[in-house]
Amino acid sequence: MSEQDSFIEKVLIPHEEIQQKVRELGEQITRDYQGKDLRVVGILRGAFIFMADLIRNIKLPLSVDFMSISSYGGNVESSGVVRILKDLDKPITGVDVLIVEDIVDTGLTLKHLLEVLSTRNPASLRVCALLDKKERRLVPDLKIDYVGFEIPNLFVVGYGLDFAEKYRNYPFIFVLRPEYYQPEFTR
Ligand code: PRP
Ligand code: MN
Ligand code: MG
Repeated sequence: MSEQDSFIEKVLIPHEEIQQKVRELGEQITRDYQGKDLRVVGILRGAFIFMADLIRNIKLPLSVDFMSISSYGGNVESSGVVRILKDLDKPITGVDVLIVEDIVDTGLTLKHLLEVLSTRNPASLRVCALLDKKERRLVPDLKIDYVGFEIPNLFVVGYGLDFAEKYRNYPFIFVLRPEYYQPEFTR
């Protein structure tokens, strides 16, 4: 962290801690998917950094695909219906699918994804999320199979997570100084 990084309120999860956790998740997934046809599905854009690190810690001949989902906006009172902006390139029928997310917040994005992808009859459908902000959950009983860190209700950026498309490139997870975002904004 350099002196000009004045937008950092505090570092919540340093890079080394993330890397350690990503290694552990990779080992666990490697064990669980022995002999399976694993397709790792990243949800753009937030998941791309985590996914790149995660799959390099999964020692299996897996394949990857990506999906992009429209945000339902800041309005958490919405129905949770999210639109697919970019669908998977390949069918997933009979494939063991692992969805990778950077963060599960209200859970509306993930709920919708699970509904959509389960209709395509994958052999299995699981979720790996680096961050779980449980306090904000609006979807009850949402099962996340692999979780990196449970975090408090703080607005965090870095390691793929953005505010207004910025800060995704920082290799650690941090809290932005309030003067760098509108306080009424929620992810
Ligand atoms: C973020 C994050 C998750 C979703 C979680 O994506 O990457 O996909 O929100 O929020 P939820 O649990 O409340 O649905 P965002 O829509 O900000 O798009 P991005 O990944 O391109 O930043
Ligand atoms: Mn996202
Ligand atoms: Mg975002």
